Amino acid sequence: MKKVLVTGANGFLGQHLTCYLKSEGYNVVATGKGACRIQNPDTINYEEVELTDKAAVEQMLLKHSFDVIIHNAALSKPDECENNKNECLNINVESTRYLLQAAGVHFIYISTDFIFGENGPHAEDAETGPLNFYGESKLRAERLVIETSDRYTIVRPVFIYGHAGEGMRPTFLHWVKTSLEQQKQIKVVSDQIRTPTFAEDICKGISTIIATEVTGVFNLAGKDILSPYDMAVKTAEILQLDSSLIHEVTAETFAEPVRRAKRSGLKIEKAQRQLNYSPVNFEEGVRLTFGISAVK
Ligand SMILES: NC(=O)c1ccc[n+]([C@@H]2O[C@H](COP(=O)([O-])OP(=O)(O)OC[C@H]3O[C@@H](n4cnc5c(N)ncnc54)[C@H](OP(=O)(O)O)[C@@H]3O)[C@@H](O)[C@H]2O)c1
Repeated sequence: MKKVLVTGANGFLGQHLTCYLKSEGYNVVATGKGACRIQNPDTINYEEVELTDKAAVEQMLLKHSFDVIIHNAALSKPDECENNKNECLNINVESTRYLLQAAGVHFIYISTDFIFGENGPHAEDAETGPLNFYGESKLRAERLVIETSDRYTIVRPVFIYGHAGEGMRPTFLHWVKTSLEQQKQIKVVSDQIRTPTFAEDICKGISTIIATEVTGVFNLAGKDILSPYDMAVKTAEILQLDSSLIHEVTAETFAEPVRRAKRSGLKIEKAQRQLNYSPVNFEEGVRLTFGISAVK
């Protein structure tokens, strides 16, 4: 079975990817910062690797002979990227450069819809135009991958959600659930649209990419176009929580340091056609996230 490196394995998608690919029988080496935070760490082949340390990355690449590298680690919070541009470039671009030194691997790079501006949902070949530094750094990393690797696949998810076990950071949906359970009033924007992606769908898509060795760029997003407000209300309905606590606001309500697209999201027809990618709809995704069975 192929030997697969997952970087950023302590992160939200990284934990999902590590566990999913392991369950598929791949020989997964998971790397992250600090100690392993994945559940049942004894069962995970985990190594601590600081990806901005070129020598540490080279040492890891020398030690292992990977068939596949999934470069998932990133400084993923747009606000942090805007306020720490050098750190952002080091993590999001330079670490990619170091990992690209691995010879003969299938390089899978996890990118984002933030490489685009307005007028989404976007197809794979739409014109790029990031609105913030996070998006700019991910676009620079994409370009580096395209220039350097002769066998790469770029995967672009959007607004990832899914089950969050112990040690995983909570997602937007978990914030909605916890707030409503505590009877808190919450303000959620309704003038931004996204195509929220269920984490396990990305894992399935990537598993297909590894197995078929398909190269190129693929949007792996959800099939529904929703605003965060729509997502919050649907989540409340499915969890039978009080949706009147959710207040619809515009993005201008929050003084955010970072510009975000109003109309984002990604089109998934290419992945549906070429990878048989078949994501769940948002309601199914919410049920699976919180382990709620469908009403018959
Ligand atoms: N979340 C989304 O909605 C979304 C949407 C589209 C694309 N993406 C992309 O998907 C990928 C995963 O996102 P995520 O939400 O799962 O992010 P996340 O939870 O923040 O995970 C990223 C991981 O990268 C690790 N990392 C950061 N700097 C590192 C370094 N210098 N050396 C080693 N590891 C480092 C972090 O370590 P620590 O945990 O120790 O900080 C973290 O565990 C990212 O590439 C992101 O750009 C995410």
